[in-house]
Amino acid sequence: MSLIERIRERAKKNIKRIALPEGDEPRTVAAAARVKAEGLAEPVLIGSPEAVFAAAREIGADVGGIEIVDPASSPKAGEYAAALFEMRKAKGVTEAEAARLVRDSMYYGIMMVSRGDADGLVSGAAHTTGDMLRPALQIIRTKPGMKVVSSSFLMECPNHSLGENGLLVYADCVVMPCPTAEELAHIAVGAADTARTLCGIEEPRVALLSFSTKGSARHALVEKVQQAVRIAHELAPDLLLDGEMQLDAALVPEVGASKAPGSPVAGRANVLIFPDLQSGNIGYKITQRIGGAQCFAVLQGLAKPCNDLSRGCSVEDIVNTIAMTAVQAGE
Ligand code: ACO
Repeated sequence: MSLIERIRERAKKNIKRIALPEGDEPRTVAAAARVKAEGLAEPVLIGSPEAVFAAAREIGADVGGIEIVDPASSPKAGEYAAALFEMRKAKGVTEAEAARLVRDSMYYGIMMVSRGDADGLVSGAAHTTGDMLRPALQIIRTKPGMKVVSSSFLMECPNHSLGENGLLVYADCVVMPCPTAEELAHIAVGAADTARTLCGIEEPRVALLSFSTKGSARHALVEKVQQAVRIAHELAPDLLLDGEMQLDAALVPEVGASKAPGSPVAGRANVLIFPDLQSGNIGYKITQRIGGAQCFAVLQGLAKPCNDLSRGCSVEDIVNTIAMTAVQAGE
């Protein structure tokens, strides 16, 4: 069974309510209909019913039995506005502004999750990453003990000798352009958590990547990764984590043994931590496009799960992301 098949099976066993703020976006409507029909989650389409039904007619999707909530007429809007005002007044949000914001479907969806009226949220077919991330960061905030929100890409590689039978977790490839050493350490711990909870990897082995292995090069960028390794050891003393190391030292047993002898991770890493967003984003796309890997993205570190889609996503991508969000919500 592939990773995504396993995730879908887990989602079916613990049905979660997933808010879809792009409720009148045709691929989202089609995905909601499939998720409902396949029993993967309880989707909630956010938008005006007229627009949702128009999208459903356009693509021939059956939205019967799917809950639709309209922020413009919702009886919950007052409660959400008051809660949003309380949360953000110190940041200068006024009561009037909070009332206006919750009429926006993205804010409404984030407030549903924040207030426990939905278990998770998926968006991004029509919005940018920042459009969803900013309100999620402001309102849902980080999990206890977690300093940053970041992302993991679950990479299923055709070469099964890599990582965990071909499965590798890459972080961070979406959120933090230029993490500090402390933030990098939190990304590493968050990715190990994702490897365990979402991928079922019992023993995450985390490599913090660099262009240097164990001091082979000297540079401020290398020192930052070395410092991140020290901080990560303090944050999670039991985690198998090592660095700094080059990608080949992390993945290839012979290279790992020669460049980082005695390392518990070198040559057998299944979680790869990139030093910044440029390397992480480029790295996952190389693995996907040249290496032929299947990839699935999730956010980690949020107190409640919200996940982003690429605007070029397919209906299948949305269904998969809803299933992953439901599994995260069940953890
Ligand atoms: N973790 C936790 N909290 C955070 C984080 C984080 N990573 N980043 C920002 N915050 C908090 C801030 O402290 C702030 O809190 P406050 O308002 O209570 O003080 C709040 O979130 C909003 O912060 P801003 O500074 O307004 O937001 P910012 O401009 O930093 O934007 C964002 C955050 C959207 C995540 C930004 O870092 C970003 O655009 N990242 C890149 C996204 C992207 O384009 N990715 C690549 C494409 S995706 C792909 O290829 C699949």
